[in-house]
Amino acid sequence: MQEKIISFLRKSKDYISGEELSKLTGITRAEVWKQIESLRNLGYDIEALPHLGYRLISPPDKLLPEEITWDLGTKLMGKKIFSFEVLDSTMDFTHELGIRNFPEGTVVCSETQKKGRGRRGREWFSPKYKGLYFSILLKPQISPNQAPQLTILSAVAVREAISNITGLECLIKWPNDILISGKKVGGILTEMAEMGAETEKIKFIVLGIGINVNTEKHLLPTQASSLKEERREKFSRIELLKEILRKIERYYFLFKEKGFSPLAEEWKKYSCILGHRIKIISQQKAIEGEAIDLDREGALLVRKDSGFIERVFAGDVVKIR
Ligand code: BTN
Repeated sequence: MQEKIISFLRKSKDYISGEELSKLTGITRAEVWKQIESLRNLGYDIEALPHLGYRLISPPDKLLPEEITWDLGTKLMGKKIFSFEVLDSTMDFTHELGIRNFPEGTVVCSETQKKGRGRRGREWFSPKYKGLYFSILLKPQISPNQAPQLTILSAVAVREAISNITGLECLIKWPNDILISGKKVGGILTEMAEMGAETEKIKFIVLGIGINVNTEKHLLPTQASSLKEERREKFSRIELLKEILRKIERYYFLFKEKGFSPLAEEWKKYSCILGHRIKIISQQKAIEGEAIDLDREGALLVRKDSGFIERVFAGDVVKIR
């Protein structure tokens, strides 16, 4: 019922009377009033004027499923949405959904996370109502060694969405850090579940995305930034989330239709390390050389001083020059 009322309020350019809402929804005017009150409790700013009726001033900046799906326009991403005030990590919850065979494109978001995690065992600090912390369940028909392609895909999509919403120049640091003015504003984590030893297929992938949207400087790790800090302006987390889901869907469909190479081309346009001398630190070793390309599986190709070209799948990159 609340969803219905909100949708009528949105559609109407002007005030809409209690009587009209009651006719449209089939509930009494007193019940309409009750529903309006509970919508206000959810954070909807709804004006009520005698003789005129109700008008939606602004929706809440909360990750409510009905807000996310409004005008989303996707076929797959976000068809099913779980939204929480708090979770340990959206990665674990989505993993559970994967095991229980929930549909591809299911989204799990949380206003804060108690154990948000980043790449290589790091913590992902998730201050409440400030950022976007969500995971998407994907079931691509690929083998485990192609998983880096999905990381590249999501970096390309998230970069484009952030740039569209903020108007700021936004770059990608391999493999999946999103940077504005050289500072990290977002990160992506991909975790996969394999079918089992005997098959070479992935069962599902959990794509985790964390973005510092309206996070103030004192809440951010050093060297990180947020969209608000960079643009000196607050952004709607809902609008950004929707734009990310649209872009992920667009590139995911492109990937299914045309393979990895159009994504790699897009990634190359916005990579801040390609053509630069870099050092990659991974668990086993440090590799230094020039970042020259991505290969067909999404690994980074680094030409070492000896001329040998090394394929790198994971690690932390430091730009030397
Ligand atoms: C990184 O840059 O290290 C990746 C950060 C990924 C953070 C997101 S927030 C939503 C999802 N849940 C988590 O626990 N981690 C990812």
